[in-house]
Amino acid sequence: MRVPVVLIPGDGIGPEVTEAARSVIDASGASIEWRVHHAGVAALEQGVKPGDASRNALLPESTKEAILETRVALKGPCTTPIGGGFSSVNVALRKELDLFAAVRPVRSIDGVDTRFTGVDVVIIRENTEGLYSGIENVITPGVVTSLKVATERACRRIARFAFEYAKERGRKKVTAFHKANIMKLTDGLFIRCAREEHAAFADVVEYDEVIIDAGCMKIVQDPSRFDMILCENLYGDLMSDLCAGLVGGLGVTPGANIGEKGAVFEAVHGTAPDIAGQDKANPLAMLMSGVMMLNHVGKTQGRPDFERAAARIRGAYDAAIRSRECTRDLGGSLGTRAFADVLINRLAQL
Ligand code: NAI
Repeated sequence: MRVPVVLIPGDGIGPEVTEAARSVIDASGASIEWRVHHAGVAALEQGVKPGDASRNALLPESTKEAILETRVALKGPCTTPIGGGFSSVNVALRKELDLFAAVRPVRSIDGVDTRFTGVDVVIIRENTEGLYSGIENVITPGVVTSLKVATERACRRIARFAFEYAKERGRKKVTAFHKANIMKLTDGLFIRCAREEHAAFADVVEYDEVIIDAGCMKIVQDPSRFDMILCENLYGDLMSDLCAGLVGGLGVTPGANIGEKGAVFEAVHGTAPDIAGQDKANPLAMLMSGVMMLNHVGKTQGRPDFERAAARIRGAYDAAIRSRECTRDLGGSLGTRAFADVLINRLAQL
């Protein structure tokens, strides 16, 4: 039986990389009924559809409803203007669907030359509050504020999620990155909740803490010191890109946004306007997000065939990259589409 999955092409390189990922997933044997819905500037350009109750053309109600129905989506990046304009569609989607946990595995890939080998870190980012609450005020001309929000409920559930994830996957240690020496109340609450939640997992998972500035130095000196990193929203965003840089960049770092109502899989990277529409983008991060999605569907919907398809795709891209068949960001010469076609050919030979 085909599994319905929402596909959101997004903006910039989004349509190129989601189309490449979709074609590889379709060739892997996973039987998916793709339901294409829009978000971001792409949705704005389409206009609000008749009958759509939403007044927000950037994040149509129909897109959110489709995700709530299928409970799973593969999403391309969406543009957020800098320093003005509309607020982030990505943040809105995570908040409105309560996708409270971002999971971002960062792993070295054989064949990608980087400073370190054997990097294997999973970042767990709180996705719904912190400075991303978007509460900014002009106090008086020339004086503005941005409010950092931390709630005990969100701090506890993200910590619990991290420990449960570690336990399920046999990971050894969760390290909270924080700045509770300065933000004593907000980050203080975050680590207090993590410590308390850890009590129920103390026999299976270690827990420790590091002040984030020192943590940044330690991780770029020796990433093997870290196994899982637990962060509030902004720190998780920054650590994701920093860690991407350890393993070959944004072209190879996938992600998932997970909540009780569903899961949206998307790469860590953005819309890359500098290379959009030029067949230069690496679709691997999006495809790896797709692999995470297949494993998630496999587990949550009892579909071992999806987990087998995920393993086949990993086998195909691992082999391609070892043979230096890859996009320019990884030192190869292939375009977005050609790389996807290489993977489809390899899948056919497996
Ligand atoms: P970006 O991730 O789009 O690009 C940063 C650099 O990495 C650029 O040089 C780009 O060419 C390169 N890059 C990114 N993805 C790549 C890929 N797949 N293959 C090869 N090179 C790649 O970050 P930037 O420029 O800060 O943001 C651009 C836009 O994307 C902004 O509007 C931002 O708000 C949005 N964004 C959206 C996200 C999402 O939808 N989840 C996440 C991050 C940013």
